[in-house]
Amino acid sequence: MKVLVVGGGGREHALCWKLKRSPSVTEVLCAPGNPGIARDARCINVGAEDIEGLMKLALQEKPDLVVIGPEVPLVLGLGNQLREEGFPVFGPDKAAANLEGSKSFSKRLMYEAGVPTARFEVHVDVEEAVETIRSWGAPIVVKASGLAAGKGVIVAQSEKEAIDAVRDMLAGNSFGDAGSQVVIEECLVGEEASCLFIVSGDTIIPLASSQDHKALLDGDKGPNTGGMGAYSPAPCVTAEVEETVLETIARPIVAALKKRGAEFIGILYAGVMLTDEGAKTLEFNVRFGDPECQPLMSRLKSDLGEVLLAAANKKLDGVTLEWDAGTALCVVVTSDGYPASFDKGQVIGGLDAVEAAGAAVFHAGTAEKDGAIVNAGGRVLGVTAVAATVKEAQATVYKALEKLEWPGGFYRKDIGYRAVAREEGK
Ligand code: AMP
Ligand code: GLY
Repeated sequence: MKVLVVGGGGREHALCWKLKRSPSVTEVLCAPGNPGIARDARCINVGAEDIEGLMKLALQEKPDLVVIGPEVPLVLGLGNQLREEGFPVFGPDKAAANLEGSKSFSKRLMYEAGVPTARFEVHVDVEEAVETIRSWGAPIVVKASGLAAGKGVIVAQSEKEAIDAVRDMLAGNSFGDAGSQVVIEECLVGEEASCLFIVSGDTIIPLASSQDHKALLDGDKGPNTGGMGAYSPAPCVTAEVEETVLETIARPIVAALKKRGAEFIGILYAGVMLTDEGAKTLEFNVRFGDPECQPLMSRLKSDLGEVLLAAANKKLDGVTLEWDAGTALCVVVTSDGYPASFDKGQVIGGLDAVEAAGAAVFHAGTAEKDGAIVNAGGRVLGVTAVAATVKEAQATVYKALEKLEWPGGFYRKDIGYRAVAREEGK
């Protein structure tokens, strides 16, 4: 079959890479793709948020399956439009994508469905929000309600920091429309995990567990980013935790959406905090995590095309997934300066040598200039390896990264540290 993947980041590179290796897939197209994806798919220069352009492309190319990678086209209703034209689509319609598109909607639905999550309030008025912050005290969490590329969450250690964040969002307009509503949350404490599910109507299949590192700096310090690295499996997600997340978080939220007439087809990503009181939901996303997708695709042994098509056609029941028994670990290389500003157009060398050292290089924010690969975004590469243990996977990636020739690149040196400590019984 011919598959069209929408997007052009590291997640989409991992999806295209895996689809190209799927026996059921004969051709992979990607819009817009990137220079790394071009090794695995025919890239077509239509932006992932250009809904009209993507519809034209689909009608021209007539793919047998469309896989929508990022959240923005999902929230804009690309899924609805493609389905209206009769295309099998992996990715939810607009109404279900609102679970990610609006944190206030998502929190209210969790509350309605009895899904465990942090206590919260939604505010549009600065003074009322400040009052809540003063009465709950710090630490406290402030979130822009709308889409903010993983950067709209402030875990404030002081009331002042929280109040500044609220003022920035509501009065200062720092996240534009996305910050015109804020969600204030109680601060949860524990270990975080990413629990992803393939959902098709009432059928919900857990993917292997994973964990990402959202903070910029070693030791999970510094500002939140889109994700600095990830690995799978996450040892803190035991079989019992997986079952709890499936039964108390995934099933009830999918059922609550259905009750509102929004059937879910695609990936339900529950970001969970494993607290002393059990697993609580931090957020829902409606797509593969980036960078979690890179280690997940590196471990998946099943035919991805077949699985996603079955989900798109509501024939997922009875499908099982097979995973490599080892660990996959991905370190994200960013442009130094991200998540704030940085220079684009710096030449990146040594990529073949990184791969020759046993790691796969998934491209995210790269471009081609005069025959060279240059940086074109904040998160630029996802260097990934699979090995029998976390420690080995980690060592392989960091050894391979020594071959990277890019002085303007930055990466964390400790991705996977919790899992390594657990593996070593610490
Ligand atoms: P979100 O985009 O909602 O997942 O938030 C991004 C990150 O902020 C999460 O991965 C957590 O590390 C942190 N976070 C979000 N909500 C909370 C909370 N209620 N308590 C503690 N940390 C949180
Ligand atoms: N890695 C976090 C996310 O994809 O939202």
